[in-house]
Amino acid sequence: MQVAPTTEELLEIHGRIRACVACRLHVTRTQAVPGYGPVEARIMAVGEAPGEKEDRQGRPFVGAAGTLLTELVESIGLTRRDIYITNTVRCRPPGNRDPQPDEVEACSHFLDETIALLRPDVILILGRHALQRLLPESAGITRFHGQRVVRDDRVYVPLYHPAAALYNGSLRETLFADMQRVRGYLDEAEAVRGPRVRPEHAVSQREHDQLSLFAL
Ligand code: URA
Repeated sequence: MQVAPTTEELLEIHGRIRACVACRLHVTRTQAVPGYGPVEARIMAVGEAPGEKEDRQGRPFVGAAGTLLTELVESIGLTRRDIYITNTVRCRPPGNRDPQPDEVEACSHFLDETIALLRPDVILILGRHALQRLLPESAGITRFHGQRVVRDDRVYVPLYHPAAALYNGSLRETLFADMQRVRGYLDEAEAVRGPRVRPEHAVSQREHDQLSLFAL
């Protein structure tokens, strides 16, 4: 049995991300996009960077790629309320250009802190930027997708980025097949670690939902 962290601890990290001015992206952003999902999440997804819609709404993966991510999550019997979703950089690069190495570096500690706090059993690495950040020594997604990589007692699974599969039927099929493997990895992790319980001093479920899911 594991005790989940508290919503307040997660919101404290989110607050620092929103106030962050550590790289040039803060100048052009509408707002930072810290992450979205419950503190009890056993599965986390890390994408590339917020796009235009995410920058406007303050939430990750709210566009077409987000719709596909939702379908992927639902294909293994979960919903978006079961997963914590974030990005390699938390502010939109202008014109949706690739994040630059110094921007990824400036944002890096936030991702490390979030992973250390949430202790997810499985981390989905969506696309090459997240792969470069989380498993820099690994081969590319084309070789590694769907495979489990164990680091620091955590399972990482590189996957094609949902945006890449939007107009590519065979990548889409591969993504759904890889997600079935993720289901197996989650089940194995749960069998070893047991259920995750909320700490006794935590806020009520309703307050928690409002805080962590709706009150970004
Ligand atoms: N939306 C995000 O939040 N991240 C991506 O990588 C793509 C779309």
